[in-house]
Amino acid sequence: MLSSMRVIVFASQKGGSGKTTLSGHIAVEAERQGAGPVALIDTDPQGSLAKWWNVRKDPQPAFIQSVFSNLFYDLDSAREEGFRLVVIDTPPAVTRAISEVVSFADIVVAPTRPSPHDLRAVGPTVDIAEARGKPLIFVVNGATQRARITSEAAVALSQHGTVAPVTVHHRVDFAAAMIDGRTVMEIDPFCQSAQEVSALWTYLYERLQRADGGYRQEEGAAAASPHSRVFGRRAAQ
Ligand SMILES: Nc1ncnc2c1ncn2[C@@H]1O[C@H](COP(=O)(O)OP(=O)(O)OP(=O)(O)O)[C@@H](O)[C@H]1O
Ligand SMILES: [Mg+2]
Repeated sequence: MLSSMRVIVFASQKGGSGKTTLSGHIAVEAERQGAGPVALIDTDPQGSLAKWWNVRKDPQPAFIQSVFSNLFYDLDSAREEGFRLVVIDTPPAVTRAISEVVSFADIVVAPTRPSPHDLRAVGPTVDIAEARGKPLIFVVNGATQRARITSEAAVALSQHGTVAPVTVHHRVDFAAAMIDGRTVMEIDPFCQSAQEVSALWTYLYERLQRADGGYRQEEGAAAASPHSRVFGRRAAQ
């Protein structure tokens, strides 16, 4: 059990690396493994995570409607509401706003596909995490079974930071499950994709237990300001 609310930020400059897919999956898995209550925040104007959540039947994990400028207050409110974990998805960009989101993170997770383009694009994400003094964890996502480039990617990434010891492989069930608001675990909890997500969450959970940086109660003690948040069934898109 985590002693205080923790925040995981999924960030990577490269589009399509798996930020939204893994944000949703990790939030659901954390809830399934008893680390909840868990809340999701989508800071991407595309709203892919919000759209996924809106078609979910299970209201857990919760969804907090927020925007960059209100994140400080919304995270503070989430902690007061009793949430134990908040998972934040971000757009594929490197901006001051994303750097500010990262400032709330206990850990930053950067999904990275094992491709030369993705590997070359990790620099700015590394810089943001370093500038904010946040632990960065790469997750190799979308890997092909037994492809040499997967291990080569892990080695290349390890030059820049920590690489999760769990590789998430390319499987159509990740995309298929999300069509109707589910995850691979909710379709078949014993499938290989579900086992990878479970192992990834176990690793991230250990890292969260070790992380003592990030969001603090006293940081969020400022007076409340008008902000938008919902725990209901519909997230604005
Ligand atoms: N492990 C995987 N296996 C198969 N498909 C995957 C996997 N991970 C992600 N995808 C698919 O790849 C596409 C991009 O994934 P996703 O939307 O999660 O990336 P993203 O980093 O959030 O993209 P963006 O930067 O545009 O927000 C989606 O269609 C998703 O279903
Ligand atoms: Mg996305």
